[in-house]
Amino acid sequence: MIELKSARDRERMRKAGRVVAEVLQILKSATAVGMSTRDLDIIADREIRARNAIPVFKGYHGYPASVCISVNHEVVHGIPGNRKLRPHDLISLDLGATVEGFVGDAALSFFLAQAPDHEAERLLQVTEESLYKGIAAAVPGGHLGDISHAVQSHVEQNGFSVVRDFVGHGIGRQMHEDPQVPNYGAPGRGVLLKSGLALAIEPMVNMGRFEVDVLDDGWTVVTRDGSLSAHFEHTIFLDENGPEILTALNA
Ligand code: MF3
Ligand code: CO
Repeated sequence: MIELKSARDRERMRKAGRVVAEVLQILKSATAVGMSTRDLDIIADREIRARNAIPVFKGYHGYPASVCISVNHEVVHGIPGNRKLRPHDLISLDLGATVEGFVGDAALSFFLAQAPDHEAERLLQVTEESLYKGIAAAVPGGHLGDISHAVQSHVEQNGFSVVRDFVGHGIGRQMHEDPQVPNYGAPGRGVLLKSGLALAIEPMVNMGRFEVDVLDDGWTVVTRDGSLSAHFEHTIFLDENGPEILTALNA
């Protein structure tokens, strides 16, 4: 069942989205060579709570941390730990926070120091662009498949592939609500997009093939072919004028 949100819900989701945007920016700025991913999780947990918010990932189906940190060929859901970050690592940070009972969820990817090569740089750029193409397609009167298709076609036109096994989602009182938002699909298909809908759109894009595996830790998703993977996500709110990005820094 898809729950449409009220104006009051939207205000709360704006607050949650702002916390997520701020903390992601802090984490990105704090990331340095030689740091462990656990160091970043400690900062994430502290900065979320300092904003009177709750880290929604912690304890979610047993997930042990406040942020997901996925490095290089890790796609999503990397668990912070002792791993030390190195120059040219492709780092994806995914973060969620609850404020006044509503959730914000966003992710971004970047290179520590600089990209190892031009193709890696292009992967990052195309993944971010595909998110914004998906967001632009999220207009009332359209269909869910318009979003999926906008993401997929941009990625594939550029020679990369979209992950199938994990998808975006509706969001609100719960981090994961209906509908699912796949990063692949056909325009004009799927549910009708309406004002009051809140979605997390999150392309996960592999440089090589789309297949992924989950490691023995039960969480970390990696590319099967070992190729690099990037991830960008925003929480958006649809009204009659179109999408508002709730997890943008200026929001
Ligand atoms: N953004 C991710 C998602 O929507 C975060 C979930 S990770 C978990 O699936 F740890 F909370 F499960
Ligand atoms: Co999400």
